[in-house]
Amino acid sequence: MQEPIISFPSFEELPERFKLHETIAQEHYLVNGEYRKWNGAFHDVYSPVRLQEGDKLVKYKLGHYPLLEEKQSLEALGAAREAYDLGRGSWPTMTVNERIAHVEHFKEEMSKQREEVVKLLMLEIGKTTGDAEKEFDRTVDYITDTIAALKQLDRDSSKLEHSGGVFAQIRRGPLGVVLCMGPYNYPLNETFTLLLPALLMGNTVIFKPAKFGVLLISPLLEAFKNCFPAGVINVIFGSGRVTASTLMETGKIDVLAFIGSSSGANALKKLHPNQNRLRSVLGLEAKNPGIVLPDANIELSVQECLLGSLSYNGQRCTALKVLFVHEKIKDEFMELFISSLNKLKAGMPWEDGVKLTPLPEDDKPNYLNGLIKDAISKGATLVNETGGETIGSYFNPAVLTGVDSSMKIFHEEQFGPVIPIVFFDNIEQPIRYIVESNYGQQVSIFSSNPEDISSLVDPLVNQVCRVNINSQCQRGPDNYPFNGRKDSAEGTLSVFDALRAFSIRTLVATKDSSQNKELLNQILQGRKSKFLSTDYIL
Ligand code: G3H
Repeated sequence: MQEPIISFPSFEELPERFKLHETIAQEHYLVNGEYRKWNGAFHDVYSPVRLQEGDKLVKYKLGHYPLLEEKQSLEALGAAREAYDLGRGSWPTMTVNERIAHVEHFKEEMSKQREEVVKLLMLEIGKTTGDAEKEFDRTVDYITDTIAALKQLDRDSSKLEHSGGVFAQIRRGPLGVVLCMGPYNYPLNETFTLLLPALLMGNTVIFKPAKFGVLLISPLLEAFKNCFPAGVINVIFGSGRVTASTLMETGKIDVLAFIGSSSGANALKKLHPNQNRLRSVLGLEAKNPGIVLPDANIELSVQECLLGSLSYNGQRCTALKVLFVHEKIKDEFMELFISSLNKLKAGMPWEDGVKLTPLPEDDKPNYLNGLIKDAISKGATLVNETGGETIGSYFNPAVLTGVDSSMKIFHEEQFGPVIPIVFFDNIEQPIRYIVESNYGQQVSIFSSNPEDISSLVDPLVNQVCRVNINSQCQRGPDNYPFNGRKDSAEGTLSVFDALRAFSIRTLVATKDSSQNKELLNQILQGRKSKFLSTDYIL
């Protein structure tokens, strides 16, 4: 008899750390520096880890969070607006050094919650121990690096410019109230790469967690409450359709910081009545291709393509979502690809060496199976025997060959473990794919031939925002720009770029006259202004 592709534990078999003897009751939200109790409806949170009960798989309930309504969303907006106070609030007018001190304090408090947040990343969204720890640590490092980048930015602005007979001091100022919403696949990291730079630049924030990965914010609420002045950070819970839509319709959101789908972003942007007031910082979907050329190192290409397609079960915006493999090497590539795939361990997030885990979205296996059916009905072949086998919330990776443009999987972002492969003999095929795609985030090319690589790099850098040579697509390192063309993004994120995205250059200028020089000297030497200042942060 064949071994099952995965087996779920009973409650008793869960490792002690992951046994919740009491569920997590998130019953408050954070507005204006205080917890407010919610008395309305709640949303139940279940783990992607199912529990075996006799011969049945049952859902493992982790807790619940409030489904806030319009009124509470508007309370949060009121608090954020009051704290910003049209740019006159204590937060937007504080010195950079003072704001940094608040964020340092937050980082310290947040670090104390590492174990709990990592545990919830594993339980709530099915991340492996390694990936969950990496997400937490990478976020703390991101905060450290952002603080360093802000100090440098401030040092660079701590001087007066002189041009065309005009003195000026140019700094970056905040934009106002930011609505911040991150994605479920990086509910901590990607959200905080928006949230912290927005705060550091002097904006005030309303944060609504993603659709999964909500309870892991609970252990951090106290740090948000204690480390920032009232109203600077407000945390609300509920459906985006109710909370975010209400906020956007008021026209009082200055920045939409959102990582998710382009349809979600567009729907929200359309609700805002003052389009010129609204700035958007968006990370959206992608369909990054991997192109394997005839002289590629097969072993390396297989390893990177597998990693690119299946890290966190393919639920990354940067995942390789379609592979173009040259006809000349297809047999060798496929043989190694399938045998390497078969070695990947499926299991529970905490198991040693596990690479494939259950999926958090209930309807995902159905959707993925639909893509497979559609492709097969149009001539594709499912090449791995157990591809698409589903047990509860676990979906075994499926590899499809013979994929073409008539199939949904060729165009749609699957965001899960289905790997479509197209064999090609003319490089125009993958190039045309990229040119015609609605997405333009990244591409990976695999080859050891410098001429072939160069002839692809030059046209492709104008189609996507990152061309990876002999490596999978990825966001990091976080100092590098992360962005996309077409429907894949708006704005650029990186440690440095995010500070720019959440601010605007503002200057104070005066004509060069002896009277004005004297005035400037008095302001600077008497340290009378926080903006007009040549003080240097060390
Ligand atoms: O979901 C998209 C993430 O930005 C991907 O980040 O490439 O570091 O996994 P990553």
